[in-house]
Amino acid sequence: MGSRRDSAHTGLRAGLDKQPRDVAAMFDRVARRYDVTNTVLSGGLDAGWRRATREALGARPGEVVLDVAAGTAVSTVELAAAGVHAIACDFSQGMLRAGAARPVPKVAGDAMALPLADASADGLVISFGLRNVADPDVALREFARVVRPGGTLVVCEFSSPTWAPFRTVYTEYLMRALPRIARAVSSNPDAYVYLAESIRAWPDQPALAARIQAAGWADVEWRDLTGGIVALHRAVRP
Ligand SMILES: C[S@@+](CC[C@H](N)C(=O)[O-])C[C@H]1O[C@@H](n2cnc3c(N)ncnc32)[C@H](O)[C@@H]1O
Repeated sequence: MGSRRDSAHTGLRAGLDKQPRDVAAMFDRVARRYDVTNTVLSGGLDAGWRRATREALGARPGEVVLDVAAGTAVSTVELAAAGVHAIACDFSQGMLRAGAARPVPKVAGDAMALPLADASADGLVISFGLRNVADPDVALREFARVVRPGGTLVVCEFSSPTWAPFRTVYTEYLMRALPRIARAVSSNPDAYVYLAESIRAWPDQPALAARIQAAGWADVEWRDLTGGIVALHRAVRP
């Protein structure tokens, strides 16, 4: 498969050497065309996934919600639409800058060492971000530190289609078509080879639920979106 050679250009191997500096640099490079590439690659489905994420969180107006790995804050403005005080947090300055015009507060910070006090947020969302964090288990424990008891976590992430024939077609699409389409629209196509590989290396729905629970969260449940291409995991801080 050509992807092995191509992904060397990004300096990243899915599930292996996700060094924070390399991840941030990769997102700095895709930032300029991140939003449009997302919409093209997902066939416009991303808007519905973001809406479902907001609904799964179920935050009430006035509550403080941290959107970790918020990137260009496209996920944060969707949360703010519910009247909550949504804050975007990301460690890629390039992504935050690309979303500078979005009217939500933004803070630079690492998911594994958040710049927030203990129990200071009512809820926390991470959309298409946890897969890229160097140590997702450390991040999940850090999320439990900053969310108050009774508060909610929602993880929106690519997952495993549940119907086996569809899963096969989808895997073919990921490994072959996605990098090709990205070459036409993205400002850093090689990053999308990493995207395909990192999705394949990511745990399926039950495995991710077990890791969320092991990190100190309770009442973990999930809902599949688009046949399991994406899964929303929801959990409560005990
Ligand atoms: C695919 S983008 C998702 C952006 C946004 N949440 C969305 O839904 O479009 C992933 C983001 O995760 C960020 N990221 C990865 N690891 C991170 C970490 N350890 N701390 C903070 N941000 C991180 C990257 O900089 C990037 O902006």
